[in-house]
Amino acid sequence: MAIRSFHVSDPEGLDQVAEYVSAFLKSGMCVALRGSLGCGKTEWTRRFLRLKGVSRPVVSPTFTYYEAYSSEREPVTYYHFDLYRISAEDEFFMIGGEEIMDGDGNICIIEWPDVISGLLENSRTIRIDFEMSGESREVTVSIPDAVMSSACDALSDAPVV
Ligand SMILES: Nc1ncnc2c1ncn2[C@@H]1O[C@H](COP(=O)(O)OP(=O)(O)O)[C@@H](O)[C@H]1O
Ligand SMILES: [Mg+2]
Repeated sequence: MAIRSFHVSDPEGLDQVAEYVSAFLKSGMCVALRGSLGCGKTEWTRRFLRLKGVSRPVVSPTFTYYEAYSSEREPVTYYHFDLYRISAEDEFFMIGGEEIMDGDGNICIIEWPDVISGLLENSRTIRIDFEMSGESREVTVSIPDAVMSSACDALSDAPVV
């Protein structure tokens, strides 16, 4: 696991975290966002999706369980989940969560992911932990080794120009 921490003193500071994660996130993967209410999970998702070319406003999916967003730049559909109101894995199956996770070309960004921790494969899940201290946040990104090494391989295979 490669772990990197960011000191985020205002919401704009989340853009740097979004850019870092963007370098590793490929279709078929998940992002698990962990941290208390109001720590910036939805704000991070909003900034990340904007960076990825999503123009539709990103709303908090607390009452709809998830929202889907397509990018204008890449053949990927982002599913933004909020599992705050889900209390068992079964309920995640019932809303079609597993099919979405396994669907071609999908990337899942999941707030309150602990209820489905048994379904989140370590090798394809990037974890982001948010800790609040006043207006600041300590944001820690954990990238699985397999994801890190395939990103490095892709870099070293790139033609030298
Ligand atoms: N340093 C910071 N990082 C992230 N959010 C911040 C920061 N300072 C203030 N905020 C504010 O905190 C709120 C976080 O809300 P939200 O992203 O909805 O939280 P969550 O989804 O984790 O419950 C936003 O209104 C955001 O503007
Ligand atoms: Mg939220």
